[in-house]
Amino acid sequence: MTPQFGDYQNEIYFDGLRGVVPGLPMTFTELEARAEAVMSPSVWSYVAGGAGDEHTQRANVAAFRGWGLIPRMLVGAVRRELSVELFGMKLPTPLLMSPVGVIGLCAQDGHGDLATARAAARTGVPMIASTLSVDPMEAVAGEFGQTPGFFQLYTPTDRKLAESLIGRAEAAGFKGIVVTLDTWVTGWRPRDLSTGNFPQLRGHCLANYTSDPVFRAQLARTPEEDPRAAVAYWARIFGSPLTWDDLPWLRSLTDLPLILKGICHPDDARRAKDAGVDGIYCSNHGGRQANGGLAALDALPAVVDAADGLPVIFDSGVRSGADVIKALALGATAVGIGRPYAYGLALGGTDGIVHILRALLAEADLIMAVDGYPTLADLTPQSLLRTPGTGTPPR
Ligand SMILES: Cc1cc2nc3c(=O)[nH]c(=O)nc-3n(C[C@H](O)[C@H](O)[C@H](O)COP(=O)(O)O)c2cc1C
Repeated sequence: MTPQFGDYQNEIYFDGLRGVVPGLPMTFTELEARAEAVMSPSVWSYVAGGAGDEHTQRANVAAFRGWGLIPRMLVGAVRRELSVELFGMKLPTPLLMSPVGVIGLCAQDGHGDLATARAAARTGVPMIASTLSVDPMEAVAGEFGQTPGFFQLYTPTDRKLAESLIGRAEAAGFKGIVVTLDTWVTGWRPRDLSTGNFPQLRGHCLANYTSDPVFRAQLARTPEEDPRAAVAYWARIFGSPLTWDDLPWLRSLTDLPLILKGICHPDDARRAKDAGVDGIYCSNHGGRQANGGLAALDALPAVVDAADGLPVIFDSGVRSGADVIKALALGATAVGIGRPYAYGLALGGTDGIVHILRALLAEADLIMAVDGYPTLADLTPQSLLRTPGTGTPPR
């Protein structure tokens, strides 16, 4: 029989017979606590923190508790099918690794972008590589193996630089461009403010800029000779406050699938579709950008409706296989995770990420088995009931 994701539990139980217990956490709560213990305080607070009093961040997680999957019996869901088609590619799982700008710093060796790309190669779960990385995108793409990768663009105010970054992503073999719309300015983040910590201003994760010929051409001295001037210039050009008028220009830059990240309103989804994008990415940046309470999951159904058949990627608050199932049932084509794999990386490098992904997939797969939903097509909004279980998880 071909392996199923749920078989991961058999590996663990059989190891247990030999007295070997997993070295990596099996719950998100333990994952978070152990990651905090091994990460430097500044990287930890940057990754774990969010905007304002972090209400939105907690609401993202809590929203999943407001839905329950209805068990169906006598289905005989012996084999489950979790593969998805996305932009003409067949992916073995519905998971994606969301772009995480400081993922490089989360690894103990400081090269987390490469470690994440290697986890993508091992699992078939694509990495969406952030513009903000320790290693340049060409080196990251070099580790993808057979797994497709996506490049996430923070659009700079210098259009020529944006064009150069996209051109490099194409040349490096990325299979899609994700343009993040919600971060042309950094949101109000008290945890980082209280320690005065913003990693990029300290020169971290700027390799895609400092290796770029267009960026370098703007500097009087090279970034190696004068790193401070490079950072200062980066801060000036980092974020372009895009409007709908910029979309035709963005669209004209690439024939690769173009996906807009940060869409939470159905009107925005409709307008993006009209402008010819290939995918909608429903996300509130994991609650890091704007506090205000709306959980990304609560925005998802209307966005899916408005996308009208266009693929919808979802992230923000996914912490378990059960969460993955619920997002898929509410219409997501694929589901991204952010902090969970950053913590897995901090704890165990590439192996840590692979464990986190396998655990999420195993739980999702076993829920489909137990509850009688053998394929992703069986998971629809009608498979879910609103439950009174909504509640803000403990801080
Ligand atoms: C530390 C950190 C850095 C992030 N950097 C980026 C980034 O560079 N680009 C981007 O589009 N989103 C970025 N995000 C947002 C993620 O792509 C994703 O939307 C979010 O983490 C999902 O929420 P979750 O962490 O609750 O899973 C970042 C998130 C975190 C936690």
